[in-house]
Amino acid sequence: MPKHVTRAVCPGSFDPVTLGHLDIVGRASKLFDEVVMAVGVNPSKSRMFSPEERIAMLEQACAGFDNVRVESFSGLLTDFCRAHDVQAIVKGLRAVSDFDYELQMAQMNASLAEEVETVFVPTAPEYSFLASSLVKEVARFGGDVSRFLPDFVNDALVARLTSENDAVGGSRGA
Ligand code: PNS
Repeated sequence: MPKHVTRAVCPGSFDPVTLGHLDIVGRASKLFDEVVMAVGVNPSKSRMFSPEERIAMLEQACAGFDNVRVESFSGLLTDFCRAHDVQAIVKGLRAVSDFDYELQMAQMNASLAEEVETVFVPTAPEYSFLASSLVKEVARFGGDVSRFLPDFVNDALVARLTSENDAVGGSRGA
């Protein structure tokens, strides 16, 4: 009998990818035959990195996992799951505070596509407070966030903030 391939999606904005995301991807890659990292593209939300940059960083960060690939998506996640024959949505839970909203999304997604199951995976304790938004805020104020990011992502973040600051400084000086 042919083996049924289990395929999961790890959705997110990944602006930028953190070691917390990679912790969850690593766990998902052991549970499922294939994992698709789905980068949400929503033009109404302002992001530090473009979809192309976020995808390129994720591809580099996930290069060590041979069953993980990266795609972008816009619209409903459940439509993406159907189009890519995905059976499970993997979400990391950092703390109880994540659970309320994640449960709401899981139940909404189940009502849209009952064949797609949401699987919650607890984040490693050392990443329980980690979020891309916080990393960006700390970095904006000059804090060192290198221990939360792959080295090349930290370099890209520092470079982006430096060029943003130069642009602000340049326009003030003009
Ligand atoms: O990293 P984020 O910003 O928490 O990711 C949020 C994301 C992309 C996973 C979420 O916004 C999402 O699933 N968007 C797709 C739109 C959708 O399907 N909405 C209904 C969910 S109940």
